[in-house]
Amino acid sequence: IDWPGPWPYPLWIAHRGAGRLAPENTLAAFRLGHAYGYRMFECDVRLSADGLPFLLHDDDLERTTSGHGPAVALEWSALAQLDAGSWHSARYFAEPLASLSEVVRFCHEADCALNVELKSAPGIERETGLIVAETLAREWRGALPPLLSSFSSAALEGARTAAAWLPRALLVEQVDTGCVQAALALGCVAMVVEHGQIEPQLAATMSAAGLVLLSYTVNDELEVQRLLGLGVQGLITDRVDGFKPGP
Ligand code: G3P
Ligand code: MG
Repeated sequence: IDWPGPWPYPLWIAHRGAGRLAPENTLAAFRLGHAYGYRMFECDVRLSADGLPFLLHDDDLERTTSGHGPAVALEWSALAQLDAGSWHSARYFAEPLASLSEVVRFCHEADCALNVELKSAPGIERETGLIVAETLAREWRGALPPLLSSFSSAALEGARTAAAWLPRALLVEQVDTGCVQAALALGCVAMVVEHGQIEPQLAATMSAAGLVLLSYTVNDELEVQRLLGLGVQGLITDRVDGFKPGP
């Protein structure tokens, strides 16, 4: 892996837009994260029934929208009518779901970097990676390319097929002996690891392999210091009101 120069992305990354302060994965969350000084955002992206990439964490609509059932069963025209804000608080009543294209435009206007996590309904992981990467390759005009990440190897393979030049990162919830090799085999530039799993041994192995180490979801000050000491170069956090990104 040959990343030219130092890791170019901001250290601080707002989880799902603005952590828990605004309805996750909506433009309202991005605006709030931006107001707190964040210039890079993680968000969860999946496909509608008609293949449009949009932001939603869960497979199902219940938790964070006024809809019901699997999100993949609805076309974007129906998804766009849902209320994705009221579940969080009354002030976000009728906040809509965000399409990936809308988020790309926000990042252009606000000059921000983006980490798109590829989520997927079961069985369409590869297709999701393909379509999301194609969309970003077509629409993205920001200074830094969006970083694509996923727990799914098939989704990352799809993204690689569609736009190999977009940087990819393997998400790791449980470190095992094969994860570094898996990330290398997928042509990833980084791994995004659950913070409690990050130990000196992993940091050293990744550094020797030329892989950048990022972490999720870091909400504790002492843990931030521990991770920085291990060379972690990206901190995905919910606490946009607690951690102030540098200039
Ligand atoms: O991308 C890092 C983190 O968001 C992965 O977990 O469940 O919050 O999408 P989750
Ligand atoms: Mg995520």
